[in-house]
Amino acid sequence: MLNIILMGPPGAGKGTQATRIIDEFGIPHISTGDIFRENIAKGTPLGLQAKAIIERGDLVPDDLTIGLVKDRLCKDDCAKGYLLDGFPRTIAQAEALKKMGPEIGRPVTLVVDITVPDEVLVERIAGRRVCPKCGASYNVNSMKPKVEGICDRCGAELIQRKDDNPESFKVRLENYYAQTQPLVDFYKEEGIYHHFDGMIGFQKVSEGISSLLQANK
Ligand code: AP5
Ligand code: MG
Repeated sequence: MLNIILMGPPGAGKGTQATRIIDEFGIPHISTGDIFRENIAKGTPLGLQAKAIIERGDLVPDDLTIGLVKDRLCKDDCAKGYLLDGFPRTIAQAEALKKMGPEIGRPVTLVVDITVPDEVLVERIAGRRVCPKCGASYNVNSMKPKVEGICDRCGAELIQRKDDNPESFKVRLENYYAQTQPLVDFYKEEGIYHHFDGMIGFQKVSEGISSLLQANK
């Protein structure tokens, strides 16, 4: 069963790899960041609560995030697996998932962690353009779309994320080291942790993750 967590610092390539994994394995992509951004765009109560927090690079409170993920994991399309991108991000979220997974019959089976040095993350974030419709990520320097400014997958116009500025990125990176990186030891202890070097090129990272998933599906 592929019940997967994709983790890594901001800009490591989680969203980029997720797009390819879901195309190959046919499991839903659950990105808490994408869910919050959709809610912000629609002006929902959740979006209104999350907007300022996300734009300055801080983490949305655990209770809001955990409830949202639990509802999403209970949906029918997660019965054959799921790919969590950007959740959990705190020990409290990981503990909650450890409890809820078995309760709903969908425990996490694999953790895929992609890491990249800080100086490369800064460059990637500066050059990133994203699709507001399907969530695909591009880069004006390294991963250009076929037609400038247009999403290859769905044809929508690409945008720059509000939190992709140097000030918010600094806060996101600090939060990652303080709150999210401790999850590495948490999942090593669980025996389901797998590390990938995000510097070996998109294709090679992708092939490595694909082999791991094929062997565990
Ligand atoms: P989220 O949307 O999850 O953002 P993030 O974790 O900061 O990660 P990013 O999406 O920025 O990076 P990525 O790893 O997906 O990189 P990408 O593939 O795009 O969260 C946003 C915010 O929402 C948080 O700050 C927080 O406020 C809130 N939030 C979300 N989840 C939460 C939670 N659980 N709890 C509390 N708050 C939460 O790639 C980046 C760039 O690099 C792209 O331009 C891409 O083209 C390029 N690239 C990718 N791979 C390669 C490669 N191999 N070589 C060269 N370039 C590459
Ligand atoms: Mg992402």
